[in-house]
Amino acid sequence: MPPRLPKPANSGAPAELTASAAALTLRAMAENAAVSSDQVIEGDCLTALARLPAASVDLVFADPPYNLQLSRELHRPDNSRVDGVEEEWDKFAGFAEYDRFTRTWLAAARRVLKPSGALWAIGSYHNVFRIGAAVQDLGFWILNDVIWRKTNPMPNFRGRRFTNAHETLLWCAHSREARYTFNYEAMKALNDELQMRSDWLIPLCGGPERLRDGAGKKAHPTQKPEALLHRILLASTRPGETVLDPFFGTGTTGAVAKRLGRRFIGIEQDKDYVALARRRIAAVRPAPAELVALESRREAPRVPFGSLVERGLLQPGEVLVDAARRWTARVRADGSLISAEHRGSIHSVAAQLQGAPACNGWAFWHVERKGELVLIDRLRQQIRGELG
Ligand SMILES: C[S@@+](CC[C@H](N)C(=O)[O-])C[C@H]1O[C@@H](n2cnc3c(N)ncnc32)[C@H](O)[C@@H]1O
Repeated sequence: MPPRLPKPANSGAPAELTASAAALTLRAMAENAAVSSDQVIEGDCLTALARLPAASVDLVFADPPYNLQLSRELHRPDNSRVDGVEEEWDKFAGFAEYDRFTRTWLAAARRVLKPSGALWAIGSYHNVFRIGAAVQDLGFWILNDVIWRKTNPMPNFRGRRFTNAHETLLWCAHSREARYTFNYEAMKALNDELQMRSDWLIPLCGGPERLRDGAGKKAHPTQKPEALLHRILLASTRPGETVLDPFFGTGTTGAVAKRLGRRFIGIEQDKDYVALARRRIAAVRPAPAELVALESRREAPRVPFGSLVERGLLQPGEVLVDAARRWTARVRADGSLISAEHRGSIHSVAAQLQGAPACNGWAFWHVERKGELVLIDRLRQQIRGELG
């Protein structure tokens, strides 16, 4: 529900003053009203966005109509029909109409976005360049364009073009000066301790995640994979923050937000999709709060490997092994490791043994305690616990 605004009280002041004071009060209230999160609003996003308070959401994720301009049905070589996007919501009279629509919803979304917030917009070659020009014209600042490369794209059945195997995401700060959120450490952890790149290899939504009707037909032609939203929300929001999705469809953004302890507002004009999204989100169980809390370097005290030796949690000469007991190295008194051929930090010895460019030694090395392998990161956590 949009925020309810009370009727102005009659203070006895001149009418024009009362009117302007009331207008100002109402505007201030609307702008300051706490947004009621975790809701799916049924209706047109332009109307719904206009009712939301200004500067009230932390992130906008938008998966707008593509304007595919399909002029005829697509068939596979066996003549079966391809499930394209033929819905009315994807039809526009031409580029000019699509551009007007794009600029209007982008401006409306920008109004409700906090100055520290960010926008993600996803599109294909049909629309993403038009969206890109519009976000720049409106004052957003593009931080990255991320390529979502599909592991299982639909082939180009007629063999007249390349397989269209990716979509593009634009990640934009509110303005060039904005202090946006980027959970660098979380992205690195998600990528096996390597800096996360701007090309993401993620399959199309399928299997049990894909919502279908009773006859097995896709419930929505463009349901996005949860993995994509998982990465986006983990990268650019903090737990408890609110993400707004003005083209909610099946509610992928809401489902992932709920799982990750974020709040959401979804807007969708199709009542069947709204019902589907509400059912879907109701079935999601949020992850325990301590497992979605961000652990940035600043929040977690740095514990060098040598501290484990200094504090007697590991003894010089003790043997470390990987989980499969394939490689071993011995602990030196100075907190470095030595193996038959290599010597160095827990990370470099682990990487060299495997012939890998890099390796997170904390997640690789184990020590035996009471007949069981214990990850050395557990010992580090013990010290962090003591440090509070
Ligand atoms: C590309 S789909 C989004 C799919 C969604 N990301 C998902 O994972 O299910 C675009 C959606 O926007 C909705 N839509 C299109 N125009 C709209 C408008 N003006 N207001 C609200 N919803 C709209 C369509 O009904 C459609 O479900």
